[in-house]
Amino acid sequence: MHKTMTDGARQYSPLNGIECLRVEPSRLLPSLQQDARSGLLASPRSMPPKYFYDERGARLFDAICDTQEYYPTRTEEVLLQQHAREIISQVKPDHIIEFGSGTSRKTRHLLDACEGLGRRLTYWPFDVCEPVLRTTGHALMHDYDWLKVSPLLGDYHAGLDELPVPQGPCLYLFLGGTIGNFDSVSAHQFLVEICDRMRADDSLVMGADRVKAHDVLHAAYNDAEGITAEFNLNLLEVLNRGLDADFDSARFSHRAVYNATREQIEMYLVARERHQVRIDALDCNIRLQDGESILTEISRKFSDESLQAMLTEAGYTLDRHYQPDNRYYSLLLARPTSIGSKKSEL
Ligand code: AVJ
Repeated sequence: MHKTMTDGARQYSPLNGIECLRVEPSRLLPSLQQDARSGLLASPRSMPPKYFYDERGARLFDAICDTQEYYPTRTEEVLLQQHAREIISQVKPDHIIEFGSGTSRKTRHLLDACEGLGRRLTYWPFDVCEPVLRTTGHALMHDYDWLKVSPLLGDYHAGLDELPVPQGPCLYLFLGGTIGNFDSVSAHQFLVEICDRMRADDSLVMGADRVKAHDVLHAAYNDAEGITAEFNLNLLEVLNRGLDADFDSARFSHRAVYNATREQIEMYLVARERHQVRIDALDCNIRLQDGESILTEISRKFSDESLQAMLTEAGYTLDRHYQPDNRYYSLLLARPTSIGSKKSEL
């Protein structure tokens, strides 16, 4: 069931502080223990990439974005800056709902465009991290005094059924190229889930990284300063804390390779020697061979064809496709193909 929440249902003001609306999961999420059991004890071993982002992980990701080699974030930001006015004029949103909003840095370009066009709206940042939601919410309300901010606290992996459905055109945002971290089945499911919520005048803006020269892709995940390596290795600290484990990061190295067949970067932690790791929370030891790897992330890269197919299959029509001259990255504006036919299928 969708909750309907009208504009007047809640008032937020800087004086009252920011109230985060807790979004209850609409389906059961595996716990870290369950994910570790099904990932680390399997062959080949893997972990879902969402566990990278503890406080240190989030800071390391920010530092990755500042490296020379990691182009996606700054490319996406330029595209947003260049095309925000057109996007806002086209969609005329009363609401922006952003999945995985973090510090909302890039979203500010859209808010600037709203300001320039005299368009007032409510921004619903949706994130798992309450302190970041609060700090960001305060900063945004301070910088845009016309803006209503309604933070949504929750995990978008746990389903979208409990998200409020606001009145008026809604712009859904899914930035950063994070769609590439989903395998094709999960990406499809997530996009369908968003599409199912959308009405005819809603739109989706999504960022996606592109297939390109392999050396450029390789460098982006193997920066010279070794920040991506630290980001990857930090997962072991997250596991040590969350699972009472004794992973020793000195016994692993970072490996990121482009798999041209699957059109994806694959990031691994590779055991430098044969050794054992104790995982108290799972009440077990794992034995790693010398050179054995744990897959920690896939980051899919898209072609025009694979982007188009992903959107069409999930029920969207592509309205605008923004990319830089070198076609390194895509910013997509899409809307549900046909509400009528979608509803009649149910
Ligand atoms: C923000 C999740 C899209 O896959 O490029 C950066 C994460 N991993 N460097 C990506 C990441 C290694 C990033 N995403």
